[in-house]
Formats: sequence, structure tokens, C-alpha cells
Amino acid sequence: MKKSSVVSRSGRFASGPAAEVADFSQSISFDWRLWQHDILGSLAHAAMLQKIGVLTKTELSAIRRGLEQIGEEIATGRFEWKPELEDVHMNIEAELTKRVPAGAKLHTARSRNDQVALDVRLWLRDEIAALVSEVHALQRSLVELGASNAEVIIPGYTHLQRAQPVYFAHHLLAYVEMLERDGGRLEDCYARVNVCPLGSGALAGSTMPLDREFVAKQLGFIDEAGRPQITQNSMDGVSDRDFMVEFCATSALIAVHLSRLAEDVILWFSSEFNFIKIADAYTTGSSLMPQKKNPDVAELTRGKSGRVIGNLVALLTLLKGLPMTYNRDLQEDKERLFDTADTVRACVRLMAAMLANTSVNATVCAAAASDPLLLATDLADYLVKKGMPFRKAHHVVGAVVALAEKSGQPLNRLSLADFQGIDRTFTTDVTSVFDLKKAMSRRKLTGAPGTLEVRKQLARWKKALA
Ligand code: ARG
Repeated sequence: MKKSSVVSRSGRFASGPAAEVADFSQSISFDWRLWQHDILGSLAHAAMLQKIGVLTKTELSAIRRGLEQIGEEIATGRFEWKPELEDVHMNIEAELTKRVPAGAKLHTARSRNDQVALDVRLWLRDEIAALVSEVHALQRSLVELGASNAEVIIPGYTHLQRAQPVYFAHHLLAYVEMLERDGGRLEDCYARVNVCPLGSGALAGSTMPLDREFVAKQLGFIDEAGRPQITQNSMDGVSDRDFMVEFCATSALIAVHLSRLAEDVILWFSSEFNFIKIADAYTTGSSLMPQKKNPDVAELTRGKSGRVIGNLVALLTLLKGLPMTYNRDLQEDKERLFDTADTVRACVRLMAAMLANTSVNATVCAAAASDPLLLATDLADYLVKKGMPFRKAHHVVGAVVALAEKSGQPLNRLSLADFQGIDRTFTTDVTSVFDLKKAMSRRKLTGAPGTLEVRKQLARWKKALA
């Protein structure tokens, strides 16, 4: 059995853990990435310990210097992580204590249970801020692509069947709206991440007169009014992972939104649609078929939504039925959280880059949008404006469409006699219905794909995202 110098076992244990147990239970292989936030948390905790008289000023400066030095070494890859020290918290503390005797006082009134909750909250705050700005960048990419193709009209689809014409920009702006809600959800989630659990101890706080507000303020756990935010129940403080679930749920929804955008891009890039061209740098080839150019960025983004949804389910399952308070099960939270954060951030970034390197085949789009059937509903509205009840108009236009189909003519090539043969309400002005430009200018409702309205929305988003 391999002996270990695990700090948490000193005294109580006659031997270190079996090598296979140490291997099974270590988390350093993935939680090392919390090191910066672990050090930040320790610096704040140490400052507070000095304030309440547990550390002298000299001890505090020695601890500070030691932690900063360790941080330097980690940042430059010179720090040796020891798996036998289990996790990031033990690795840093043990190394500090080796260098600075006062390091042995650092863990006063602190447990790894509140420490890890603190570290993850600190880490996640940065992660959320970074993701929010990536989401905004993706929104900008969408707006830019829409704005630089502002005249392009494509068929809008329901059931993946041609339905009604929309500006290409309008289609893209639908995703800008989704992403805006995603950004809002991330910000909501941030408010609940931004609460300091330090001082919860292992589960029951401490008999030491800690200044929890002081630590919270030091670490920026404050609300908009500058009031320190600290957890109000020590048992909840060490075992709450709701904030991770919220982040993973929000991220899963982002991934789902991205998968829909990816699917549209994949369809548009197919020879069948051919609405867009993605620059070579953002496509890949086939090892066998020399002609292939594949939209792999979009496909991978669509595919990766699976693991992000999986991470959310894994996390919920991890928490389900878990008794109070901290249980080692909770160590399983971090890989799911990290994977979600890394995956979603990469997908958002790559989709933005891909869209910035995408152009629109305006002629192909124009040809698709010129399908007069897209204006069948406009034709019904034309009859309604002449006083016909909509249900009847729907029926009449249905008959017109059937006639066009039977005679092998496009809807807009039927003669006035053809129209009037079905209903006398049609007059010579019926041809004006099929003027696509005019049809688009008739869509004036807020949220509709009308010429002015889409221009207004593009301008609104440009300003909002500037
Ligand atoms: N590595 C642990 C985790 O990620 C830190 C907390 C360990 N606490 C304990 N009592 N063993 O959950």
C-alpha cells in the first residue's frame, strides 16, 4: 500500500489510502483548473483571519507571498500537482504550509466543503461573464450577416414546406431574439451564483467569530446596491448545487438553440437549397469523395448539444435523493459543469466565426422567393379586403391554387378569366398581389418580416449590441 501525506488523514489514520482508492477518489486531474479561484478565496479568507486576530499581520503577508508565488508557478507550468493530495485545495494548502509555517492556520474555520462551493462559484462567475460576451458576439454576427444581405428574401417554412416570404435577415433575427433570452437567463443565473458560501464550514459553520460579510465584499459577492451576499444556511451552503444546475440548464437551452441554427445552416448549405456559401476555412472535405465540402462546424455544434443536455441530466441525477449535506458524490459535479461551459462556449464562438465567413447566394434565394405560391395567403387577404369572409377566401384561393396546379401554370400566370371563373370578386388589380417587393412592404406589424419593420429591427439590434 502506497503511503501518502494526505493532510486530511493526519492523526486519525494509521495508514494512507490504498493506491487504488487514492486514484479513484482524486479530483486533481480536473479540479486543478480552479486554482486561480482557490487562491483568491484563500487570500480573502486569510485577510479575514487577520482581521479577527487569528493571523498576525506578518503571518498574513507571508501567506499572501506564498500563495502568490504558488500562483506564479502554476501559471507558468512549474507547479507539481500531486494526485496523492487529492484535489486542488489540498495541493495548494500543503505546498503553502511547506513554505510558510503560518499556512497551517489558513484552514481555520474552513472546510473543503465550503471551499469547493466557493471556488466553483468564483469560477462560474467568470465563466458566465465570458459566455455572455460570446453570446453577444454571435448575435452581432447574425445581425451583420442579415444587414449585409438586407434585400435578400427567402421562403419562410413551416413543416419544412414553403410557407410565406421573409427577409433572410428576419430569419436570422429570430435567433438573435433567442440568444437575447439566453443572455438574460445567464444573467439571472449569475445573481444566484454570486452568493458567498464561505463560513458554512463542513456543514455547521464555526465557533470562530468569522466576518463573512468582509470575505464576501473582498471577493465581489455583492448585489447591485453593494450589499454583501452570503448564504443563510450552512447546510444548504455546502450542499447547494442549484446554481450549477441553472447554468447547465441555461447552457443546454443555448445548445438547443444553436443546434437549430446549425440545422438551418446545414440545410441552406446543401445543394438542394444552396442559399449560402461557407468559406473553405470553415468547412471540411471528405477523405474519399473529392468533390465534398461539408458544414462540419454546424454539424458538430448540432451534435454537441447532446452532451450538454446529457450534462444537465447527469447533474440532476447526481443531486436527486442526495441526503444532507456534503457527500462525496458532489465531486462528480465539476466535470459535467466544466464540459458544459467549455462545449457551449466553443460552439457559440465557432458558430459566430463561421457566420462571419458565410456569404449569401442572392440569385438562388431570389429564385426560391419568387415562387408565387408563397403569396397565396396574400391573395386570400386581397379577397378579405374586398369584403369576403376569411374562411371563404381561404376556400376560393385553395381552388385557384388547385386550378394552377392542374393547368401546370404558376399562380401569377393565370388569366383574369381564370380567377373570375372561380370567384367574381377578383378584378384586374389581382396581379398586384404577386409583386413581391410590394407584398413585403405591406407587412407592417411589429415583429413581421416587412421591409420597414425588418430594417427597424436590424437598426435596433445594431444599436443594442454595439
Ligand atoms: N474534491 C472535493 C469535491 O470536489 C472537495 C471537497 C471534499 N470534501 C470532503 N469532505 N472530502 O467535492
